[in-house]
Amino acid sequence: MLVSATEMLNKAKAGHYAVGQFNINNLEWTKAILQTAQELNSPVILGVSEGAGKYMTGYKTVVGMVNGMLEELNITVPVALHLDHGSYDGCYKCLEAGFSSIMFDGSHYPIDENVEKTTELVKAAHEKGVSIEAEVGAIGGEEDGVVGMGECADPNECKRIADLGVDFLAAGIGNIHGKYPANWKGLSFETLDAIQQLTGELPLVLHGGTGIPADMIKKAISLGVAKINVNTECQLAFAAATRKYIEEGKDEQGKGYDPRKLLAPGFEAIKATVKEKMELFGSVDKA
Ligand code: 13P
Repeated sequence: MLVSATEMLNKAKAGHYAVGQFNINNLEWTKAILQTAQELNSPVILGVSEGAGKYMTGYKTVVGMVNGMLEELNITVPVALHLDHGSYDGCYKCLEAGFSSIMFDGSHYPIDENVEKTTELVKAAHEKGVSIEAEVGAIGGEEDGVVGMGECADPNECKRIADLGVDFLAAGIGNIHGKYPANWKGLSFETLDAIQQLTGELPLVLHGGTGIPADMIKKAISLGVAKINVNTECQLAFAAATRKYIEEGKDEQGKGYDPRKLLAPGFEAIKATVKEKMELFGSVDKA
């Protein structure tokens, strides 16, 4: 059964580790992530962007697929199904469809409007026992065609949003979605520290988990990050493994055109990536 992400993240914050949010795009990715979480006895969050939700033919399809897998694969570790960077309307659709967690990304609204919409959505989510993440300070990079500049959030604005009763908070600290540019200045630990001082026990979320050096990940966890989002790294691993398989001509031989064989190397590559991240984040055996 799907669970809200609140308990797993409160435990992670108290235990000084982070739970990975791995974004899903199709059946293979979902199965790879769930199997790895079960094998490593780790809690996990499946992230669904609005674009990925649409691609997978809608939120109801996603909920049906994930619930089916939890049962058929005998998954017993805590699993949350979470809307990633949700719009106001997208949040309501996911609450309706049966997601167990949502993110309302109001970071592009003026702070008063972000506060107003977040307040309303906190109430709607909690009425259904669903956890809710809010965002302050846009995360850089491109996501679903929207390019953000990679801000550092204002700690006082973070405190204002935290006080609305959100269950965890994403704050921009110089992080970027996708590959980091060569001249990236790194995470602003000063900002993260200031945010944690003001928001206390609230689990903080680090977006853009792809390609952040291990020492920075560990430092961010020590400063209150309890959820780390990874998307691009799984995409890169899946694409590289699939490309290699095709370039080696395996799709021409035997029954290589069988989609189950064609997608198998990508499936294994995602499993390996998720394993590596869960080990780095410290969530292994924390289910
Ligand atoms: P990456 O694509 O950089 O891993 O970021 C994922 C993310 O933050 C999703 O919200």
